Amino acid sequence: MISYAKDTYPLFTDKDVRGMSKFFDLRSFGDVKARSEQISNRIRGIGGSVIPPPPPNGDGPWSQEKIDLFEAWVKEGCQP
Ligand code: HEM
Repeated sequence: MISYAKDTYPLFTDKDVRGMSKFFDLRSFGDVKARSEQISNRIRGIGGSVIPPPPPNGDGPWSQEKIDLFEAWVKEGCQP
């Protein structure tokens, strides 16, 4: 099983967490689950600029492996 605590949480860097803190908390299972569809789109550049943003604001777009892992977490129903 793919879980937020084991798999999804470590995908987010402290820079991501700080950058997003005024919108929602990437370290919160509930917040990330609630926005999973939007996050899934934006990491693929759908519905807005690709996230995370390039330096210096962010650490740039994710690798395909990270995207696939997040997508698999969503597909399995966003397990805690
Ligand atoms: C993997 C990491 C990140 C994820 C999953 C993420 C996710 C998102 C999502 C879902 C939105 C849309 C929010 C909404 O419309 O309510 C958003 C917007 C935004 N994010 Fe992030 N973000 C990440 C990293 C960052 C970083 C590092 C910054 C640095 C400053 C940042 C800055 C912003 C800003 C300024 C917006 C509003 C403008 C826009 O929608 O593009 N984010 N992000």
